[in-house]
Amino acid sequence: MINAKRIWKPVVQKLVTGSARQFKMVRSAPQWPGQLTAPGLYLHVPFCKNMCPYCPYNRVEYDADLFEAYSRAVKQEIDLYAPYLQGMSFGTLYIGGGTPTVNWPGLVSIVRHIRATLGAIADICVELHPANMASDCLSALKEIGVSMLSIGVESTSDVVLERIQRCHDGRTAIDAVIRAMKMEFKSINVDLMFALPGQSLNGWQKDVTTMVGLGVDQISTYPMFSFPYSDMGRKKGIRHVTRPPHKVVKAMLEFCDAYCEASGFRRCAVWSWLRPAKKKFSSITRHHYIGFGPSAASMTGSDFYVNTFDVKAYASMLPADRPVAVSMAVNRRLEMAYWLYWRIYELKIDDHEFRSIFGAETSLDSAFAALLNPLIPLGLLKRINGAYRVTKPGAYWIHRLQNEYSLNYINNLWGACRQEPWPEEIRL
Ligand SMILES: C[S@@+](CC[C@H](N)C(=O)[O-])C[C@H]1O[C@@H](n2cnc3c(N)ncnc32)[C@H](O)[C@@H]1O
Ligand code: SF4
Repeated sequence: MINAKRIWKPVVQKLVTGSARQFKMVRSAPQWPGQLTAPGLYLHVPFCKNMCPYCPYNRVEYDADLFEAYSRAVKQEIDLYAPYLQGMSFGTLYIGGGTPTVNWPGLVSIVRHIRATLGAIADICVELHPANMASDCLSALKEIGVSMLSIGVESTSDVVLERIQRCHDGRTAIDAVIRAMKMEFKSINVDLMFALPGQSLNGWQKDVTTMVGLGVDQISTYPMFSFPYSDMGRKKGIRHVTRPPHKVVKAMLEFCDAYCEASGFRRCAVWSWLRPAKKKFSSITRHHYIGFGPSAASMTGSDFYVNTFDVKAYASMLPADRPVAVSMAVNRRLEMAYWLYWRIYELKIDDHEFRSIFGAETSLDSAFAALLNPLIPLGLLKRINGAYRVTKPGAYWIHRLQNEYSLNYINNLWGACRQEPWPEEIRL
């Protein structure tokens, strides 16, 4: 039987990237960063005290000696980049994990090093785990200039949290949000997960209304995905605990959308809602960025590359050389496709922004009309004042496509990088 995906996947890929050929990342040194557009920085802290079995991110169990080696190496990696990043100013430094505050004095020391070595940074954003955000940690973060927080609440139901093997209860998560709110950071996002095993629609409604009631600035919601290589997938555990039926999952999303909008939030990305006049907390939507730490990715316009995932291999490569595992050259069309992907994710694709990045002579329509215009009669996109807006049904379909494309690419890349610290070649 013909597999329909095999036919339409390359067709969509060709329309978006200009090539139907499978992407390939190889073990080769990318160029050092040159001129960067709207650059951001990323720091990956790959340690956790509790290893959640569903988690696909690169993380290892916290170990004080390994953290020491990591901390030394990450500062050396920053020093290697310093000559190439002089004079730049960065919109954000995003610190993700893992659990960045698992050793918060260690994190503070790394951030101080970044501030002393690289250019100005407008906002520093940190991902927090409810069980690793004591008040002295929050005060220290504020003191070094952290302005935006994202807290992994996931659920307020003890039953659900236990089912997914989180190491905190609902009360701890709520108290953590309340403590952070009192410290008046510029913006606080909470992550909530849905479609979780054993989660009811009522329980989900309570999660959303509780977070809105606490006054958070942004709510990001993630349907549980289980990559094949995450522990839960490996142990097949996820297949033995039942996900709520599709109808319930759809109702969860619809409730969140309607309730957040009725409470004055606006949808700012496929899975996020933001209070007006607040700055969006978002990890990966910068145009160009440089990532530090094991598994951190970088996009410089000329190259896209990923550091080795293995913490020991990462530390042993430094200070001699960059710990890049695999890279691929990025041509202009691919860079445009990359930009488009994140704008679709943020639900607004604006011609002015496109031209400001790719040059006044290149219009959005000249690059992507054949892809975007057919989506208008299907009700997935509309045009408002020169910009394309993703509609509600469009946002739903993005989620479906995301599963087919980006999660697939990420799955191949991360899966291979987990198996081998220095892979020769990865086909995406
Ligand atoms: C790196 S974690 C956040 C910080 C901290 N490590 C924590 O767990 O609270 C990033 C977020 O990814 C989301 N996440 C993790 N695993 C997921 C999965 N399998 N499916 C969907 N979302 C997931 C969770 O919402 C989590 O808060
Ligand atoms: S979800 Fe967060 S705390 Fe849990 S393993 Fe992943 S990164 Fe660590």
